[in-house]
Amino acid sequence: MVVQTTRKTLIGAPVSRIDGPKKVTGSAPYAYEHEVKGVVYGFPVQSTIAKGRVTSIDTSKASALRGVLGIITHENAPHLVKPPQPELAVLQSDKVAYRGQFVAMVIAETQELAREAAEAIVIQYEESEHDVVLSADSENLYKPDRVNPDFATDTATGDVEAALASATFRVDQTYTTPAYHNNPLEPHATIAIWEDGGITLYDSCQGAHSVQDAIAQTFGLDLERVHVISPYVGGGFGSKGQIHPNVILTVMGAQVVKRPVKYALTRQQMFALAGYRTPTLQRIRLGADKDGHLTAIAHNAISQTSTLHEFAEQTAVATRSMYAAPNRLTSHRLAKLDVPTPSWMRAPGECPGMFALESAMDELAYACGLDPIELRVRNEPKKDPETGNPFSSRGLVTCLREGAKRFGWQPREQTPRKRMKDRWLVGTGVAAATYPSNLIPANALIRAEQNGYYTVLIDATDIGTGAWTILTQIAADALDAPLERVHLEIGDSRLPRAYVAGGSTGTASWGTAIVEAARKLRARLSEEHNVIPVEGLEATSTTKENPQAKRFAMHAYGAHFAEVHVNQDTCELRVPRLLGVFAAGRIMNAKTARSQFMGGMTMGLSMALHEESILDPRFGDYVNHDFAEYHIATNADVREIDISWIDEEDPHVNPLGAKGIGEIGIVGTAAAIANAVYHATGIRVRDLPITLDKLL
Ligand code: MOS
Repeated sequence: MVVQTTRKTLIGAPVSRIDGPKKVTGSAPYAYEHEVKGVVYGFPVQSTIAKGRVTSIDTSKASALRGVLGIITHENAPHLVKPPQPELAVLQSDKVAYRGQFVAMVIAETQELAREAAEAIVIQYEESEHDVVLSADSENLYKPDRVNPDFATDTATGDVEAALASATFRVDQTYTTPAYHNNPLEPHATIAIWEDGGITLYDSCQGAHSVQDAIAQTFGLDLERVHVISPYVGGGFGSKGQIHPNVILTVMGAQVVKRPVKYALTRQQMFALAGYRTPTLQRIRLGADKDGHLTAIAHNAISQTSTLHEFAEQTAVATRSMYAAPNRLTSHRLAKLDVPTPSWMRAPGECPGMFALESAMDELAYACGLDPIELRVRNEPKKDPETGNPFSSRGLVTCLREGAKRFGWQPREQTPRKRMKDRWLVGTGVAAATYPSNLIPANALIRAEQNGYYTVLIDATDIGTGAWTILTQIAADALDAPLERVHLEIGDSRLPRAYVAGGSTGTASWGTAIVEAARKLRARLSEEHNVIPVEGLEATSTTKENPQAKRFAMHAYGAHFAEVHVNQDTCELRVPRLLGVFAAGRIMNAKTARSQFMGGMTMGLSMALHEESILDPRFGDYVNHDFAEYHIATNADVREIDISWIDEEDPHVNPLGAKGIGEIGIVGTAAAIANAVYHATGIRVRDLPITLDKLL
């Protein structure tokens, strides 16, 4: 770190990760790596049917193996007191609700032995007919009461049908996205230690308090008897934002064998047990007048949930506030299938939803003969179409214009399949992105130490995003102290309670609590400075919801540009250039922010070209459940990524003026690439991923 840290320049400075040296030297302990005396190992058995019940379990071979300490099945599992959702009622009955569900757990002296024993368990099932395929005419479709996190399921304004009927230009298309599985580098992992009637957990999670809550409820313990420790987390992308059955199983294992138990999901197990992004089927209808002003927007989204728990992805919600149109309609329908419950994955809702909307906007631009940027500018709403509230700030047009300049968008030949470079068809595409800026209440404590040092305590989580660094910057700035004098502690349920690292809310929400505690502490220090020694003085804060959230629509925006090359002979697809310009309020650390945007855009590229979980309807299983077959963009796929942002002062979002940036990077990337593919080839791919067979 060579950045000079004077107060004036600290916020926004490209400070290198404070935890970086520990990570690269292998001395930052991840959940599985904590050294615990007497630890033993768990390995599960997963169901091989998608629906039915377990009729018999033969553990005789497994339990005869030397070193096997315990085998837990629904026949002997401890009773769970109050699992907060049915998926967490692990081994509580003989019922199987999805393929891959836990049906037994072996605890043994070594990991290898636990696995060998698990494979030696023989389980018989009574199989029922399963339904695992999402389709628009599924008998299972129903209308959920609300969609995540708490939005109206359907909205309707004006008369969309009449407006479409009289529109000069129309688009009516269906876009589909497959299931995607979160694959953080560090799999979900837990060490569970029972001691004195309480539990200590080292857990790879996005929020220690959220795990603490779930474990306390499940095992019927007072909160203070559950201690969750998670200082370093190797990614999550939403999949560690809520507890999954593996944590319950590990705690149960430790309870049964009365030894500390370790269990990390294998990569293959992550495809059944750690959540995933639901597949979507989305119909978008757009109507426009002769000048390209939208007269109607309709977005009907279908996604899936499980029979155990309702997860209603808010796929069409972003569409409600994106563009001005007098007639608007959105709806969400869910199919309850015999599958694992979908969960959060980076920009749940916005990511697949904006792929559909921004592809459709590109189709409309061609229909109207308008430049796609101009079409978007013409339909920029003056206020939030849905609530009528003003935007706290809305930088979409600035991002589009700035991006066009940086990318070299003009002049551009709009007719597809016109540009060639050797044997490669060349195309460029653009898409807009948005993500909401929310503030979630949090608590923080700051203590003045000797010699002008400070300790800052908050149960924030750094899932690889840079929270260790950014929160230290924010605290140092608020305390008017050098970075080096601020000692931060995060990732522990004994620290002041804060919400999970999710929804792109962390920096703003945790930072606001820190700033508030710092303000109080400084006030006290200046009062008492000359009277008593300051060391040991402390101040706490408890922030509230942002009252401005009811008066303003608050979102971050982005403009994504892509250049693609498609080989004329092989249809091989390359993306030599991605560019993103973002309007996300105040950027707190230029280096980690750039990494966040780049990570999001890379994940968007991966979504556009590679990622797809393929379900075998006969078994109800995702069959490509490893990195050999579930393809993720690698270095060779990622070429130039140009990232920038515009200065945006937003006094309403929160006292820091920071909108979240963790998710918006993925939101517009896939549509920009699909639009560029159309420009290059004249082929409109409406179902992701854009594999070369779709371009033949
Ligand atoms: Mo993020 S999918 O909100 O953890």
